[in-house]
Amino acid sequence: MPEVNLGRLAIPDPDRLAAVVRQVRWPEPVTRIEFVRVLTGGHSGALVVQARVGQVDRVVKVDSSRVLRREWEAYRRVVAPQANACCVPIVATTGWEEESAAVVYADVGHFSGVGGEVRVVQEVFAEAMRTGSADAVCGAVAEVLQGAIEVFHRRARVVEQPSSLREANSGLGPSLTVCAGPGEGVLVSDEEVVRRSCGGAGDFDSGAMVTFGPLHVSTRPGVLVGRDFRVELVGGRVTDFGRMTGRVIGVRGADTRDRVRKAYGPDPLPEHADPFDGLSRILLEELPGRVRSMAHGDLNPRNIVLAGTMPHLIDYARTTEDAAQQSDFCWLEIGFVRDVLYDQDPVAVLRLQRALAVASIGLDLGLDVDSVRARCEPLTELGVAFRTLLTIRAAGLGCHPPRAGQRWVDEYQRSLLLAAHRTMKWHEPVQTSVALRLSSVVAGTAMEWLDGGNPFRYWDPADLRYLCDARDVLARWIQIRLAGAPAGARTAGRPAWRGSPRSRRS
Ligand SMILES: Nc1ncnc2c1ncn2[C@@H]1O[C@H](COP(=O)(O)OP(=O)(O)OP(=O)(O)O)[C@@H](O)[C@H]1O
Ligand SMILES: [Mg+2]
Repeated sequence: MPEVNLGRLAIPDPDRLAAVVRQVRWPEPVTRIEFVRVLTGGHSGALVVQARVGQVDRVVKVDSSRVLRREWEAYRRVVAPQANACCVPIVATTGWEEESAAVVYADVGHFSGVGGEVRVVQEVFAEAMRTGSADAVCGAVAEVLQGAIEVFHRRARVVEQPSSLREANSGLGPSLTVCAGPGEGVLVSDEEVVRRSCGGAGDFDSGAMVTFGPLHVSTRPGVLVGRDFRVELVGGRVTDFGRMTGRVIGVRGADTRDRVRKAYGPDPLPEHADPFDGLSRILLEELPGRVRSMAHGDLNPRNIVLAGTMPHLIDYARTTEDAAQQSDFCWLEIGFVRDVLYDQDPVAVLRLQRALAVASIGLDLGLDVDSVRARCEPLTELGVAFRTLLTIRAAGLGCHPPRAGQRWVDEYQRSLLLAAHRTMKWHEPVQTSVALRLSSVVAGTAMEWLDGGNPFRYWDPADLRYLCDARDVLARWIQIRLAGAPAGARTAGRPAWRGSPRSRRS
């Protein structure tokens, strides 16, 4: 067994770490492992440390066997057979018999052959925002996505039959909180739970008595799992995996709305479409010709690591064979917005998202990235962010198969809406009020294009004039869309988003 030297690592349980690491089955004989530094306590709970194994730097991730086994198997099944130079390999693991386990990644510095300090792409974007030069971050994003597309998104299939995005609902947080107990409730179907907990009209009222049919009981006590939803259970027990009755004490949509409002404090909410009305429709709508593909699953700006200028992908914890094809791109976009643009005024991010939305229409109409950029960048003050996020979107479009039955731009906005909602479930310390505001701005802007109303109804008229005055394809498209939009159309339901009356007109 190798000798393990923990050095002076400040971690809560060093002996446990040493014991787990001794169990790693190295592909080569190893006599000595020296810990260099803690990379992260891990948002998701893993402990990640850099270690010198023999003469080579490695990155060791310690977590529960259940979690890491999934990560290793996803790597082996999805990544390894197609891996290219972008993908950092998992080089060793422990067994999975014990409660804790480890997976060992190649260290990006060593793997790339560049050595030295590495940086996550989040830092490169932050630096670009400071210096005003987007070249480095756009180059890194374009390169890593080109690599990722080959491994994940190009392996796509078009689902001809109508299908929905409802499986994404479980990622948005528990649908309901229910206090289980005696009494009579209305029997609710699985679909009803999804439909009536997203913050739209017709949601469950707090205090309603509901009865669930047979449910699966999850491994975590106090959680019921139905098809594409979870219910947090307070008190009571489920008997015989059977029916359960209880009083609704929390509904995700209403709770999240409240948290967003609180995040603004006394500041006015920016005017945009309601991020919640219509969410359940986006989840449940059955549409033909959607595109599914492999996905990295957690393409956040800390999972792209650069050695010099060479970007690499790490962290296959959520890698999957089956996801909405655009979901990785949208996850990277919302990650950039939340983690780097947090000190921007939400209204500036709102304008950025609108500029990107129109630019995406331009891309979808076949305009090239440079002309779309020249045309739409004047709509936003955040030019560097615009160019970076447009690079992501152009990559997403680039792998969208021509035989898809849905337009790329619509699928992108749907996945972006869901990505933004996925981040709204988080609580402190991962969640901050500034980041929550930005998530709701991104969701609200996406919804402007998805709720069937006039997408420009909240726009500054000067911006709209700027777009329409040009005599080009984009201007023509906008004029047609404006002509066809139902006057003042809004989604059905309560006007919960506080926009001023002026902004409600078409
Ligand atoms: N192979 C590697 N080479 C260099 N640095 C790495 C490597 N793997 C991880 N890191 C660094 O450690 C951080 C956390 O690693 P990882 O993403 O695998 O863990 P995590 O539990 O998912 O953490 P988080 O929730 O913060 O993403 C990365 O963001 C990166 O800065
Ligand atoms: Mg990570």
